[in-house]
Amino acid sequence: NSVPSHILIIFGASGDLAQRKLIPAVYDLYRGGYLPEHFALLGASRTDYTDEQFRDKVVFDSEFFTAEQKEQAQLKEFSKLLFYQDLKVYDGKEDIDKLKARLDVLSQEFRTGSNYIFYLSTPPKLYSTIPGALAASGLNAPEGGWARLVVEKPFGYDEASAKKLNEDIQSFFPENDIYRIDHYLGKETVQNLLVTRFANGFFEPLWNRNYIQSVQITAAETVGVGSRGGYYDGSGAMRDMIQNHLLQVLAHVAMEPPIRADAVSIRGEKMKLFQSLRPIKGETVAKQVVRAQYTAGDTKDGRVVSYRDAEGVPDDSTTETYVAMKFFIDNWRWAGVPFFIRTGKCLPLKVTEVVITFKNPPQAIFAEFDDYAMKCDNQLIIRIQPDEGMAMEFGMKVPGEGFRVKNVDMDFFYRDLTTQDVPESYSRLLLDCMKGDPTLYARGDSVEVAWAFTDPIIEAWEKGEAPLTTYEAGTWGPAEADALWSDVPNGGWRNP
Ligand code: BG6
Repeated sequence: NSVPSHILIIFGASGDLAQRKLIPAVYDLYRGGYLPEHFALLGASRTDYTDEQFRDKVVFDSEFFTAEQKEQAQLKEFSKLLFYQDLKVYDGKEDIDKLKARLDVLSQEFRTGSNYIFYLSTPPKLYSTIPGALAASGLNAPEGGWARLVVEKPFGYDEASAKKLNEDIQSFFPENDIYRIDHYLGKETVQNLLVTRFANGFFEPLWNRNYIQSVQITAAETVGVGSRGGYYDGSGAMRDMIQNHLLQVLAHVAMEPPIRADAVSIRGEKMKLFQSLRPIKGETVAKQVVRAQYTAGDTKDGRVVSYRDAEGVPDDSTTETYVAMKFFIDNWRWAGVPFFIRTGKCLPLKVTEVVITFKNPPQAIFAEFDDYAMKCDNQLIIRIQPDEGMAMEFGMKVPGEGFRVKNVDMDFFYRDLTTQDVPESYSRLLLDCMKGDPTLYARGDSVEVAWAFTDPIIEAWEKGEAPLTTYEAGTWGPAEADALWSDVPNGGWRNP
């Protein structure tokens, strides 16, 4: 096991993410034998807990472990690695001294050395404060050891705030030790986009403007904002999903081949891709981007109230819960190819997929037998989640007279590749950080460039330069989104 001994410190450990994702992910690593022999986890938050109370909260009373797991000796053993330190203000000298003293004791007891991963899972306003306090006490560069910093999303609110945040934390930690997490990069199928493209000989020659008609990425969710209205209303679909997760997926679909599968090469290519996005600003916003909010309706999960009636959302909110957009990538590979992204809450299905639509053959010689032949789409459908896998659609001859053509599917399911469970994003990402590999984390400058792409769109909305429409919860979104395809041959959203 190549993971060095260390202590993982989670700031904001009494919060939802720690309970829902982080502790279960660390447990997965423990169960899988990935954690080093010398390891401990220290939760830190404002709430007053003893170690025992913390273990109860995140393990034994947590709905994210099954009753069966809770009976197992393995989980009990794991829980003995969890500790808790309450902090009053996070940046107070007294607090950080307490934290440091605790880390000294734990590192002795567990023989971890002074190796620390600090995970920020707090409200974003503390993202500069905590690293500053760690630096003031020397914990950013512990003697004889190392320190890494993991920062949860949102990384900034726009380009200016992301820049400021980068400057702040880079003054306390070197860029190489900063891990900006985007859990979409931990998804196996998002990583598999790179393998599909670059481990096979036959996709890449077709992967360009000469053969591809359009590319679309859909990330549909059935859930509404639930009880997250307070957070979500200050964010909206563009900031919550597109600026980070979906632009990362796009980068995997569209970037140039990296020279190696390492952090420098892959993150360098992604940066170039983000820099080639053609800006959408001013009048083009209304032409290329549709924003909408859900109204009350019936979804798969039952009846939902309208977004404006959701808990924590103002009655006159103009925050979008749905975005559909068309855009272009100005480089040699993609010149002229329209790209589409759409995401929304309260849609009919939970599904994330990428659809590559290829151009038709130059002549439709079978058209005289059946006009269906004219509509035969060659599509590659990459299902990110659920039903992880890939499907290829192409035309085959219908048995019988003439040359009638029918679209067929060739399907591959990720689950056929292995009997193991597909690992959870957070487990994979945490493990990479423990190993010191930032390949699947976002680089500081590329986060800024991604904001630079979405900022002018949000600005135009704030100025009221593009309308906000609505869609009924449980439907595929507003009709306006279809019009984005009006000049694309064989175009249209694929509703799975
Ligand atoms: C989070 C967003 O980052 O991603 C949520 O804040 C969204 O609003 C979630 O629901 C989607 O993640 P996943 O992995 O369920 O597709």
